[in-house]
Amino acid sequence: MLKGKHLIQPDDFTVEELEDIFTLADDIIKDPDKYLDVCKGKLLATLFYEPSTRTRFSFEAAMLRLGGGVFGFSEASSSSVSKGESIGDTIRTVSCYADIAVMRHPKEGAPKLASKYSDIPVINAGDGGHQHPTQTLTDLLTIRSYKKSFSNNVIGLCGDLKFGRTVHSLVKALSRYENIKFVFIAPPELEIPSYIIEELTNHEFYQTSNLEEAIPDLDILYMTRIQKERFFNEEEYLRLKGYYLLDNEKLMNAKKDMIILHPLPRVDEISTEVDNDPRAVYFNQAKYGMYVRMALILKLLGGDINVKN
Ligand code: CP
Repeated sequence: MLKGKHLIQPDDFTVEELEDIFTLADDIIKDPDKYLDVCKGKLLATLFYEPSTRTRFSFEAAMLRLGGGVFGFSEASSSSVSKGESIGDTIRTVSCYADIAVMRHPKEGAPKLASKYSDIPVINAGDGGHQHPTQTLTDLLTIRSYKKSFSNNVIGLCGDLKFGRTVHSLVKALSRYENIKFVFIAPPELEIPSYIIEELTNHEFYQTSNLEEAIPDLDILYMTRIQKERFFNEEEYLRLKGYYLLDNEKLMNAKKDMIILHPLPRVDEISTEVDNDPRAVYFNQAKYGMYVRMALILKLLGGDINVKN
């Protein structure tokens, strides 16, 4: 039963609860009209202390497509946070007006702190370099749709694995399924944190900086950008920024049924020529993000909602 729960990191939900969300998302994709006004009278608050295109818009589109309403801010400067209001006081106030809240924050742990003060479900929409659980729901629904199963896949994660919260959340989520091999592809400066790989006690994995060598083995390639906003030193960012470029030449050695995912935004790590390759599914992935967030909102609002038949 997910009604009233917070989502701060992927393992807040069991594998069975995740499967319930994916099953509902499948049904929404199949028959969206059935869900047109199931959230009528409900309000979603979007509290974005950091920029976003996909996460904020897909949450807003999700709630609007369910017939509910949306309010919020897209930068802290337009709220009383700019006057020094705390996260606790902000969410207690938002709880008076909304039924569910989504928060993105540059500081690790901010949405978890908010959840302690909140009377309504709080969803972490990305906290610093830590976790991004709803991107993980998006990634999992995409993998499930194209590969049918999470198990029995070799997944390569490439780019900024140090600060990449989408990677951290996805590895955590996939580690609960059997027979997945992880290939961590990153420059030495941006390797996956040890606390993430220490949890992979039942899975095969290796680390490399060489995308060309790794690509022929992969069933799934998860590309990420080098994240300018996480660097303290601009020179270091500029040195690493063009480290990877996925192009048609590199894809010649990839499996014909490999899928290419990217949480987006893309900067320069995937050439636009790849967009026409049938293996490039990252824009479909962004669409799955809206459907899975519709399913998540419905599950967290739960019993209040009567889906029309
Ligand atoms: N994938 C993702 O989180 O994108 P945005 O930063 O645009 O929300």
